[in-house]
Order: sequence, then structure tokens, then C-alpha cells
Amino acid sequence: MRRLALTLVLVLGFASLAFAGWDKCQGCHSGKTAPDKAALTAKFKTADEFVKASKESKSPMMKAASADEAGLKAAAADLGLK
Ligand code: HEC
Repeated sequence: MRRLALTLVLVLGFASLAFAGWDKCQGCHSGKTAPDKAALTAKFKTADEFVKASKESKSPMMKAASADEAGLKAAAADLGLK
């Protein structure tokens, strides 16, 4: 029983870690408030370009996201950018 509980904790832990990256951006980047995944991957070809554009965005809504460099990189990786 203990083992099962431990496994559950581990699995849920990993699940919450996985809920980072692009998942953090999707609320806004759904194509309504901000460009969606398809629009962004069409515009940016590399992770560097993408991260740079995120930081340079003039949108006040991007403030929290652009301060988190690791988060931006994780999002870029989720979009398949290298
Ligand atoms: C609170 C809402 C919100 C969140 C969360 C958010 N964004 Fe944005 N983002 C915006 C808005 C609004 C713009 C400006 C859209 C425009 O210029 O048309 C923007 C612009 C951008 C741009 C520039 C697009 C361009 O064409 O120049 C990039 C890249 C970007 N966001 C990436 C991200 C990433 C990566 C995350 C998650 C780590 C994220 N955003 C989270 C709202 C958000």
C-alpha cells in the first residue's frame, strides 16, 4: 500500500512538472488574446528567436512570462523549436 502511495506521489509530481513550458502560455496564446502555437511556430524558426521575441514583446501581459527565461526555453522546446 505504501508503495502504491509513493508511486502515485511520484507520478503526480512528474505530471505537475510537465505542466510547465507551453502549458503556461496557452491560456493567452490560444489564438484569441495572443498568437497560437501554429502562428508562433510559423513566425519563429529557432528557440533563440522565439525566446528573444518573448522578452521583447511590448505587451504588458507578457511581463511575467518573459521574466522566466527557463520557462520560455521550456515553452520553445514544447513547440518543437531548437
Ligand atoms: C497573460 C497572457 C499571456 C501569457 C500567459 C503569455 N503571453 Fe505571450 N503574448 C501575450 C500577448 C497579449 C502578446 C502580444 C501579441 C501581439 O503582439 O499580437 C504576446 C506575445 C508573445 C510573443 C511575441 C509574438 C510576436 O509575434 O512577436 C511571444 C514569442 C510570446 N508571447 C511567447 C509566450 C510564451 C513562450 C509564453 C509562456 C512562457 C507566453 N507568451 C505567455 C500574452 C501572453
